[in-house]
Amino acid sequence: MTLLKILKYPNISLKKKSENINIINTDIKTLALNMIETMLFHKGIGLAANQVNIQKNIIVLNINNYTKQIIIINPKIINKKDFLFDIEGCLSFPDIFIKVKRNKNIKLKFIDINGKKITLKANNLLSICIQHEIDHLNGITLYDKMSNLKKKMLEKYLK
Ligand code: CO
Repeated sequence: MTLLKILKYPNISLKKKSENINIINTDIKTLALNMIETMLFHKGIGLAANQVNIQKNIIVLNINNYTKQIIIINPKIINKKDFLFDIEGCLSFPDIFIKVKRNKNIKLKFIDINGKKITLKANNLLSICIQHEIDHLNGITLYDKMSNLKKKMLEKYLK
């Protein structure tokens, strides 16, 4: 397996939108395994493919309550309800933590690494993490969730 380079804000590729995966071939399986290795190496709990500069709809997650990492391809939220606020970090924004409003409960459709269609209900941390990673696939990052003050602070911090 290979460690992949994670793009950091303000790399403009983080703003690119990803495309659905039609065929799960060896390249996609290798990408998923490399993404998992990269996420675990950096002690992340989620990683989206466009964070490693590949504009495909695939995310990997590593949430404590689960015994193994989850690979999610072509995710689509089909239902959402209730809200919560929590502090989020991101491997593309090292040392930055901000409070983000998310849906507490979501229902998600996706395909797994074997091409099987899955419907998943997620709440709390898993739900937050999935929404954060789907944002990445749509070119949306923590920067877009920041107040103007935080944005200014971040820009100063990066100089
Ligand atoms: Co992130």
